[in-house]
Amino acid sequence: MLLLDTIGWKATGLRNRIADRIWERRLGIDTYGSVEVDHPDANRYATFAYSSILNIIDHLNVQSDDVFVDIGCGKGRVVCCAALHNLRKVVGVDIHRGLCEQAKMNAGRMQRRRAPVEIVNAGAQEFDYRECTAFFLLNSFGAATLKQVLASIKQSLRVSPRRIRFAYVNPVHDAVLCEGPGFEKYDQWRRRPWSGLKFDVSFWRVGRDGQ
Ligand SMILES: C[S@@+](CC[C@H](N)C(=O)[O-])C[C@H]1O[C@@H](n2cnc3c(N)ncnc32)[C@H](O)[C@@H]1O
Repeated sequence: MLLLDTIGWKATGLRNRIADRIWERRLGIDTYGSVEVDHPDANRYATFAYSSILNIIDHLNVQSDDVFVDIGCGKGRVVCCAALHNLRKVVGVDIHRGLCEQAKMNAGRMQRRRAPVEIVNAGAQEFDYRECTAFFLLNSFGAATLKQVLASIKQSLRVSPRRIRFAYVNPVHDAVLCEGPGFEKYDQWRRRPWSGLKFDVSFWRVGRDGQ
């Protein structure tokens, strides 16, 4: 079983690498690489497979009136994948100025864009989430920052009640989302060899009345 799993992860990695090259070419963008981020509680920039990103966005069931936000957008791979859909707006927020510049460049030159894109250079804990309805987070920071971000989202729901969905990729601080009322987990994907999915993903939602 262990050997089969090892082969499965290697096959998945190879398949994803080939598909990712094709996607980068098709969109005309460059989101490769890894960048250290010099802020307390911040995780470094790295991204993951297009196929997984697109499946997650589909599972969020995004609609034309949604404002989609990638919290810690890095070079903008997720932002560009979301912008392939007909959405009200796609927003990327990142604390690293250089990464924001690359995300802006990628969003500006991407092919097949169907939604307006806005890239904001700010800490996720300071961003105003009032218009956002579909959230994406790939383990961008630690539990302390996540708590602040969730407090800010909950505050935005009090000011502007609405339904939201939230995909948390590599959800190492999933317990933080369980704290207090509001967020309900409605699905969970497990990483598995052969599946193409490198990380677990948890899916959360909040109803219009905050329940
Ligand atoms: C793992 S990368 C995710 C990149 C992108 N979401 C993707 O999937 O392609 C994490 C990103 O979060 C950003 N980040 C870390 N702490 C942050 C914070 N407090 N506010 C905003 N961005 C932050 C980093 O600069 C980095 O680009």
